[in-house]
Amino acid sequence: MIYDNHNRPITYLRLAVTDRCNLRCFYCMPEEGIKYLPRHQVLTYEEMERIVRVLARLGVSKVRITGGEPFVRTGLMDFMHKLASVEGLNDLSVTTNGVLTAPHVTDLAALGVKAVNLSLDTLDRERFRQITRRDELPAVLKTLDALLAVGIQTKINAVVMDGQNTQDLIPLANLTRTAPVDVRFIEEMPFNGEGSHYPVLHWTHQRIVDELRRHFPLLKKLPDSPFSTSANYQVPGHQGTIGVIAAFSRTFCGTCNRIRLTAQGTLKTCLYDTGVLDVRALLRSGASDEELTAAFLKAFAHRPANGFEAEGKRDSVTESMATIGG
Ligand code: GTP
Ligand code: 5AD
Ligand code: SF4
Repeated sequence: MIYDNHNRPITYLRLAVTDRCNLRCFYCMPEEGIKYLPRHQVLTYEEMERIVRVLARLGVSKVRITGGEPFVRTGLMDFMHKLASVEGLNDLSVTTNGVLTAPHVTDLAALGVKAVNLSLDTLDRERFRQITRRDELPAVLKTLDALLAVGIQTKINAVVMDGQNTQDLIPLANLTRTAPVDVRFIEEMPFNGEGSHYPVLHWTHQRIVDELRRHFPLLKKLPDSPFSTSANYQVPGHQGTIGVIAAFSRTFCGTCNRIRLTAQGTLKTCLYDTGVLDVRALLRSGASDEELTAAFLKAFAHRPANGFEAEGKRDSVTESMATIGG
């Protein structure tokens, strides 16, 4: 196991397999979309597999496939099959918007994927259309049903946006009543691909919890699980749990075990890094596994303690979440 310069183990890779997406969530990208990477700048599956093998030897045991939307890239399931056999990996999961996912759910279960995170900010079709700029709620709900039917642990990610979907908090939380689903509310972050200055965050994690408690006075705090981004709660008698992710306030940096590889092969050791290592360039210049390993170890030895270390970083973000992978 490798520890970083703040004694945090590095065990979890978030791997963005594409920057492309079939939705246009306004908190992630502008209506016209982002300028997508030309194909040759995106890592090939072979390149990604090699990187994962090297990282697995260094102690990374969990890989979360993200995007963009991972299922818009052809061949994703074949790639995941390959990853499933990488020695040392014992947790393979996916974050998806659910538009194209339903037909793959049985295969995901067969592959041993135990958990899927589904982005879903509202259960109202019109608001879904406004937030994502696409009319795809029925397809996403089909994916949710399919995931629950095969027993894959499902977390719903809902970004809480002032004036957009705060009326959806309680209906979404109520999904936990009859389904073993974890509904997680996320503070909005500035990664909207527009570089516009970020307004005041109206819905902080504390306000979200207060709102939940107003409707569910018996809401119970669950013990924190190690390395979790969410503080978790449960309404007594409900099957599922409710989580709140302080993604903007960043209350969980102290236990951050995550590194990220963007679709163009840049390693980020913190969400707020602009990129610390061009892994694609290394690979394409013929680096050996030993050279790759040395480069990773050097990057892990220089991780920032938290997003506030470089004060002001949060206010100067110009990236889209779709290129970073969430
Ligand atoms: P699990 O593997 O289920 O714990 O997933 P996760 O919560 O790490 O990942 P998911 O893809 O579901 O992301 C949920 C939200 O948490 C997204 O908005 C992410 O951007 C955010 N998030 C994940 N990791 C970090 C992080 O290191 N820092 C911050 N600020 N936000 C994060
Ligand atoms: N702020 C917070 N969360 C975001 N996501 C995408 N963009 C943002 C943002 N600006 C979330 C999506 C998805 C996860 C990977 O990242 O809802 O669930
Ligand atoms: Fe696509 Fe996810 Fe960005 Fe929405 S948040 S546009 S689903 S990458």
